[in-house]
Amino acid sequence: MTHAKDAPGATGVSQDLIELAENLIQTRQHIGPKHLTEPGPSRDLLLRLLEAAAAAPDHAQLRPWRFVAFGEQSRDKLAAAFADALLERDATALPEQLEDARQKAYRSPTLLLAVARLAPHNPDVADAEKLISLGCAVQNLMLSALAHGFATGLTSGKALTSQAFRQVCGLAEGELAVCFVSIGTTRKSRPRKIRPAPLDFVSWL
Ligand SMILES: Cc1cc2nc3c(=O)[nH]c(=O)nc-3n(C[C@H](O)[C@H](O)[C@H](O)COP(=O)(O)O)c2cc1C
Repeated sequence: MTHAKDAPGATGVSQDLIELAENLIQTRQHIGPKHLTEPGPSRDLLLRLLEAAAAAPDHAQLRPWRFVAFGEQSRDKLAAAFADALLERDATALPEQLEDARQKAYRSPTLLLAVARLAPHNPDVADAEKLISLGCAVQNLMLSALAHGFATGLTSGKALTSQAFRQVCGLAEGELAVCFVSIGTTRKSRPRKIRPAPLDFVSWL
């Protein structure tokens, strides 16, 4: 869809900037951690990506979220937590299932956990608002990573609520592990996705 005839906004934004922004948004695609290889962003670049996360909308400036970054030295602990999480759910899990669970900790050069900070309760800011703020932070981070030439993916799973996993990540009461954000390089080039049509999800009153 082109919008060539649309009038520029009040600030007279250039067509290049509009195309750049729209391209970034429309070309971002989920790339599973298995398909993300080295290199990931350097530590300095990761901090820059997190600055983009920090620009998320945030009602009452609560910053109701944080990220846990898993450095190389933490992956063995994470692997053990994934295996323990599986055993919490299924005490009869087979050795190969436990090994599969462990292996998930080593995928993706850069691995972050997106955490919602739902406590303390705020009478003016509902949990839904806090989760939206986190979602915006994650999207900012992913789009910024894409602008720097990296691919990203989000993953969740039952391990996120396990005691073993929460403990390894140092999650406090009132903190919710929402999803992993994986960042790396991909050789996969995927056709642009067909997205839902705006008229299917907007109604005018
Ligand atoms: C909070 C969250 C968790 C997700 N967890 C998974 C997951 O566990 N496994 C997976 O394959 N994709 C996961 N996804 C990615 C979605 O499958 C993906 O965004 C969706 O298919 C749309 O594709 P796109 O991101 O390429 O537009 C998750 C997305 C979100 C927002």
